[in-house]
Amino acid sequence: MKVLVLGGGGREHALTLALSRDPGVTEVHAAPGNPGMAAAAALHDVDALDGASVAALAEKLGVELVVVGPEAPLVAGVADAVRERGIACFGPSAAAARLEGSKAFAKEVMAAAGVPTARAFVCDTAEEAAAALGTLGAPYVVKDDGLAAGKGVVVTTDRAEALAHAVACGRVVVEEYLDGPEVSLFAVTDGRTVVPLLPAQDFKRALDGDAGPNTGGMGAYAPLPWVSDDLVEEVVASVLQPTVDEMARRGRPFAGLLYAGLALTRDGTRVVEFNARFGDPETQPLLALLASPLGTVLKAAADGRLDELGPLTWLDGAAVAVVVAAEGYPAAPRTGDLVLGLDQAGSRAGVQVIHAGTTFDDNGQVVTSGGRVLAVTAVGADVADARAKAYAGVDEIVIRGSRHRTDIAAGVGP
Ligand code: AMP
Ligand code: GLY
Repeated sequence: MKVLVLGGGGREHALTLALSRDPGVTEVHAAPGNPGMAAAAALHDVDALDGASVAALAEKLGVELVVVGPEAPLVAGVADAVRERGIACFGPSAAAARLEGSKAFAKEVMAAAGVPTARAFVCDTAEEAAAALGTLGAPYVVKDDGLAAGKGVVVTTDRAEALAHAVACGRVVVEEYLDGPEVSLFAVTDGRTVVPLLPAQDFKRALDGDAGPNTGGMGAYAPLPWVSDDLVEEVVASVLQPTVDEMARRGRPFAGLLYAGLALTRDGTRVVEFNARFGDPETQPLLALLASPLGTVLKAAADGRLDELGPLTWLDGAAVAVVVAAEGYPAAPRTGDLVLGLDQAGSRAGVQVIHAGTTFDDNGQVVTSGGRVLAVTAVGADVADARAKAYAGVDEIVIRGSRHRTDIAAGVGP
């Protein structure tokens, strides 16, 4: 089977590596891809938001499966355009991707499905937002209703800041603050059957000790030695399956990757957010551990045959990904810096360097092109071992002014 991966970030590099390990996958293509993906995939130019162009490229390449990585093309209907050409696509329709594209819609679906989440108000005016902030109290959580590339959520004890964010966004969801550790649980679904991955954790804040501004994610690890053995089963039963069933009932079946961002509060597990695609950087450690053939799994989901598949299988041990970010990230990342040490890091046992914000310069050298430059991802016997291997890989990478957190997956148990 030939596969086309749409996107060019860390998630798509991780997808490409896992797809190329599947003996059932003969060729991997990526558009636009990135320099790290060039070793495992043929790279093509395409406007990822233009469904007709993506479908035409898939047809020209003769692929049997398109995997859409990022949320923006999903919300724009690219998966629909590919399927209309008769090509299987892993990724929800625009109608289903609304679960990520509108926080208000996600709240409505959760309410209808009885899924536990934060109490919330959808507000269109400053007056409504002010009233909701008053009702729910501090800490305040204000979310842009629409896609905001990781910048849509403000969590603050400063009422003026919360209100200013609401006014700047227009339509917002103001919701109750959820206190407790966060877990990301992903599931592959064909719109009926739900197949969960392992629980993972992401480190969203820029600085050690969860200080500093929110980012796209500074590192991640899986599995989580501190969560109960029943968590996955509980979340499938109380969150993932009811949501998939409710979407089907509404005539918007959700087929693709359903990402549940969860808070484990004193009162139980609550949904913080849904995404309609693999998370980044959680996908890097998760796919490094996946033993099941990824192409076969995603094709079965795209074809509505997940019930024939059975549970996913995993390598023993754990995986940790540490993001190396450009100077100035997240506010104003500098680009164009040389990335050195890639071969030294990537040749260490158990280590993969997953590219995200890199490109080739005119001389064919790898330089930075985005805030999160790469994620050094390592598999080890346990979290501590994987962590040590990942940081040894990070030490090999040299980028002027770069920075990374030193506490990813620290002190979380074996
Ligand atoms: P989201 O984009 O919805 O994942 O929000 C980004 C981050 O904001 C989450 O990972 C949480 O750390 C935080 N957050 C979002 N919603 C809440 C909430 N209701 N209570 C506490 N923190 C939240
Ligand atoms: N790791 C968070 C996200 O992908 O949204």
